[in-house]
Amino acid sequence: MSDNRGSFTSRIGFVLAAAGSAVGLGNIWRFPYLAAKNGGGIFLLIYIILVLTVGIALMTAEITIGRKTGLSVCSAFKKLNKKWAFVGVLGAIVPAIILPYYSVIGGWVLKYLVAFCEGFGAETAEDGFFGGFISSSASPLFWYIIFIGLVTIIIVYGVQKGIERASKILMPLLVILTIIVAIYSIFLPGAGAGLVYYLKPDFANLSWSGVLNAMSQMFYSLSLAMGIMITYGSYVQKKENIETAVTHIALFDTAIAFLAGLMIIPAVFSFMGPEALNAGPGLMFITLPKVFNSMTGGDFIGAVFFILVFFAALTSAISLMEAVVASFQDEFNFSRTKAIIATLIICVVLGVPSSMGNGAWSGFLIMGMDFLSFCDYISNNIMMPVVAVLTCVFVGYVIKPQAIVEEVELSNTFKKKKLFELSIKFFAPVCIFIILVSQFV
Ligand code: PFF
Repeated sequence: MSDNRGSFTSRIGFVLAAAGSAVGLGNIWRFPYLAAKNGGGIFLLIYIILVLTVGIALMTAEITIGRKTGLSVCSAFKKLNKKWAFVGVLGAIVPAIILPYYSVIGGWVLKYLVAFCEGFGAETAEDGFFGGFISSSASPLFWYIIFIGLVTIIIVYGVQKGIERASKILMPLLVILTIIVAIYSIFLPGAGAGLVYYLKPDFANLSWSGVLNAMSQMFYSLSLAMGIMITYGSYVQKKENIETAVTHIALFDTAIAFLAGLMIIPAVFSFMGPEALNAGPGLMFITLPKVFNSMTGGDFIGAVFFILVFFAALTSAISLMEAVVASFQDEFNFSRTKAIIATLIICVVLGVPSSMGNGAWSGFLIMGMDFLSFCDYISNNIMMPVVAVLTCVFVGYVIKPQAIVEEVELSNTFKKKKLFELSIKFFAPVCIFIILVSQFV
């Protein structure tokens, strides 16, 4: 696909497109349940530290590698150093594992969206609704197929432009609505304890698995260590200031995740009590309907909210699918049609068990996890840290940080050059390596 590469016409275009990939279910669905489960304030603190150090350095490296080579992930590594081409291949496999289960969750969002639009919001707020829904076979599978079908249609007909234009309006709306719901949540009766839990770091709640989860969440949320940002970088013009763009994307993404936590965690304390903090992937789907149900006009607000979340999920899923399709085209010389069919086969093979694993196939566990959680674990907690460490070593010691610095400085001076070098050579790889290895010890 490198033959008809365009470039982003404006800085805001690139920042918005990258933010569209970054902001998605990771921020609104995944971050709050991980923060709830892993100690609240302490998780938030570690997450922010990791974004500012490891995340920003790695995103700078990835976008710059993309711009320097003008290629997508596999070819980019190959061009810079043949021996390191395998890192590109590893990175390219990650989105293929994420896309199917991401779309299963996307299907859950669609189900709630339709329920709220039809005025059944109150039903979704009842205890046991979510569990009943995901453990039934047909319904979640049906919504999964609809979601992946929509993503495929957009990839086939190339209507990304329209979607991008729509998300320019919808993304800011999502921010505004999230702020409104978060303020409402904070003032619910009994929510104060939740606010303290979420905002006040308590070192007694610190655990290694919490640190590991914060790190994997950081990669996931910023779309790092899977080649996406390298591909995006390949479309960035030479006059672009990469340093400020990266800072804006990272801060925006983190702000949305923070607000999502603010919307959900105090409400958990208000409606269910701290025992519900361990609810896991279902947390957003269990808590938010209760919040909307308690609001005047809640059905309407809930409907709008789920429409906006759906769009955020859709833009992210499109970039995931595009990454998988492009890899098939680049690496195996597949035609676009063949590449899309191959991607859909992966979606069936990994997506169907992810969906059924909560119900009829719930007896089928891998390492004690249902299939969806297993795909999430393998991609986020194992493969992404491995790719991230290898990328750091590659940049720090093979092509050297200077290669990145020079490319960044084509447009302007790299202000945090020293911090970048320290982070990419020492702090990031050591930190990721320790966290990665510690889970096996
Ligand atoms: N960053 C996205 C999120 O937080 O929802 C997930 C994601 C989307 C990862 C697209 C990778 C990607 F290519």
